[in-house]
Amino acid sequence: MAIKTIGVLTSGGDAPGMNAAIRAVVRTAIHNGINVKGIMRGYAGLLQEEIVDMDSTSVSEIIHRGGTILYTARCQEFTTAEGQKKGAEICRKHGIDGVVVIGGDGSFQGAGKLSALGINTIGIPGTIDLDIACTDYTIGFDTAVNTAMEAIDKVRDTSTSHERCSIIEVMGRNAGYIALWCGFANGAEDVLLPERYDGNEQVLIDRIIENRKRGKKHHIIINAEGIGHSTSMAKRIEAATGIETRATILGYMQRGGAPTCKDRVYASIMGAKAVELLLAGKSNRLVAYKNGEYVDFDIQEALAMTKDIPEDQFRISKLLVR
Ligand code: ADP
Ligand code: F6P
Repeated sequence: MAIKTIGVLTSGGDAPGMNAAIRAVVRTAIHNGINVKGIMRGYAGLLQEEIVDMDSTSVSEIIHRGGTILYTARCQEFTTAEGQKKGAEICRKHGIDGVVVIGGDGSFQGAGKLSALGINTIGIPGTIDLDIACTDYTIGFDTAVNTAMEAIDKVRDTSTSHERCSIIEVMGRNAGYIALWCGFANGAEDVLLPERYDGNEQVLIDRIIENRKRGKKHHIIINAEGIGHSTSMAKRIEAATGIETRATILGYMQRGGAPTCKDRVYASIMGAKAVELLLAGKSNRLVAYKNGEYVDFDIQEALAMTKDIPEDQFRISKLLVR
């Protein structure tokens, strides 16, 4: 049966570029003569029937804005079988026969459940963490990593002026991609990744002391959120080295702000591809960017994939710092 009406929602943590993806979903659908409904606040809004009609102008003036005009939420009820059944019934009640879910792995689990209940679903990877295994790109990573890089440059200025050691904590949940990229881009003296860090602070302390003897004016340690404890780490390092050490936790600033060109472009293409998959009668698929191409994967297969920090990149990040 041909799709007549689709819904679009954003779920999990927001990410810059989600609006560009929503815009692409709405405009591609309208171009193909399909109605679009915006489902507010992710699965929570679906269960509350917070569903609004969208037209081309609903997505005017948003391509350059961070956040998500549909709002986002986490929803415990939707992780239950009853919640999912209710969600599918609400879709049917509103004539929604396809849903585009923009979010992360958790959101895709939900999309898989909706699909099993007869609502065609397509996922789009939207998270600053870059931690979705099937894809080399996730919407928001590029903006977040640029925001973090600029912030770390600023901390570095003051760290040098005061000849301090700085521990700067970046987001990423359990993944170290933002930390690794900032390690390169900011020329950090140390980068601590959850995938690799063995907790040996003595190695850090020895390097800080050694670098200071060689005349280094600062020591920047980028610490990933998945390791955390930056403030207590700073206290221990200061006590052990005698060098003033400060912790800065960048936090939510990494999730906001105008999306970069890359995020706008990839989000736009992925949004359009998602609708094209629905039009082709597909369901339970994730749009991904892999090895230079836009592709799609079965949701369960995608969720079973794993990825790790490329060892070679980690090795090179360390050898560039002296
Ligand atoms: P992300 O999508 O960024 O990984 P979460 O893990 O918080 O974020 O998931 C977002 C939402 O997706 C959850 O609040 C919940 O409503 C839904 N969800 C997560 N896991 C499941 C699951 N196993 N089954 C159904 N829905 C889920
Ligand atoms: O997934 C994006 C992210 O910002 C992670 O980096 C972080 O661990 C998490 O979301 C924070 O979530 P919340 O918005 O619930 O505090």
